[in-house]
Amino acid sequence: MRVLSIETSCDETAISILDCSGDTSGARFTVLGNALFSQAHLHAEYGGVFPTLAKREHKKNLPLLYVEATKAAGNPHVDLIVVTQGPGLEPALWEGIEFAKKVGAELGIPVVGADHMEGHIVSGLVTQIDEKTYMLAEPTFPILSLLISGGHTELLLMREWFRYEVVGRTRDDAVGEAFDKVARMLGLAYPGGPKIEAYAAQAAERGALHDIVFPRPMANDGTCDFSFSGLKTAVLYRLRDFPEMHEETKEHIAQAFQDAVRDILVLKTRRALEETGAETLAVGGGVSASRYIRAGLEKLVSDEFPNVRLAYPTGGLHLDNAIMIGMAGYLRHVRGTTIKTELAANGNQSLTDL
Ligand code: KG4
Ligand code: ZN
Repeated sequence: MRVLSIETSCDETAISILDCSGDTSGARFTVLGNALFSQAHLHAEYGGVFPTLAKREHKKNLPLLYVEATKAAGNPHVDLIVVTQGPGLEPALWEGIEFAKKVGAELGIPVVGADHMEGHIVSGLVTQIDEKTYMLAEPTFPILSLLISGGHTELLLMREWFRYEVVGRTRDDAVGEAFDKVARMLGLAYPGGPKIEAYAAQAAERGALHDIVFPRPMANDGTCDFSFSGLKTAVLYRLRDFPEMHEETKEHIAQAFQDAVRDILVLKTRRALEETGAETLAVGGGVSASRYIRAGLEKLVSDEFPNVRLAYPTGGLHLDNAIMIGMAGYLRHVRGTTIKTELAANGNQSLTDL
């Protein structure tokens, strides 16, 4: 079955065409075409994603990416269109949905909605086996999913496919948002996560000594919930001690901040694994691109939960893309659990309501 998928929930416009076979007990996805345009550089001067600009860019780029993806795939017959309907920026989501409906009508094929966060979950569960192919092996349930992106920070439990229970979530900022805001305080452009990671790595490489330590908010509150706004404020206050910000200071702040974030993610994940007895830990979302955070989670699992399988995105599926949307839509389709709600943008869509 051939699936055309469209992702426009934030600042990436992406279209992919996948050849899909199998079901949730073993699936194979071959990427026939994949076109992606990241608007990140256009939003850099605003310090975050500017919704009207994102919408305009999606509208402009969708037809171009569609041509690019279908051409790369050799204009194949397509059976199903999957489009992200939420969560995300509503004006941006609508561009994708309207484009999907138009193409669906032209080709005379069905259009179904997908959930962006479910895409991130699936992107952790599949494994890239060669440049164009991803495989899904039946995972062992229950699956605990740690979702860490620019808009979300949550721990969800899946006891069976596509049924979710919330184990913990952020009470304020998302972790990626905290990375972006702290980067901005340090004068580093959006998206901030990769820059913080690079600055922290420089500090580590130089073995620089400093006494900056940030708090680990809600570390011992007995829940699996997160809070990042206090951490962000702590960085802001600490910066007042440095009237002039040298590169070295930025490196030290980045390192101390990243350490705090890693510790919070590790200790809340530890608690969630203990509470749920999950057998698979599936990580997804843009922050999973951090090698530093990945190393922290790998250490947690290998030292304390050797029987848990850590499932991490491979093959460039960490950041937003359309491949993960096509895979999630296909898996729901083969299980007969396609999202039934009317195809409309829902900025606050929650997996627990689907
Ligand atoms: O999933 P994603 O691509 O978009 C959303 O759905 O939000 O995640 C983007 C987020 C941004 O906040 C970005 O700063 C963060 O992921 N990010 C990182 C790294 N790479 C991207 N955060 C920390 N370290 C990284 N290496
Ligand atoms: Zn995302």
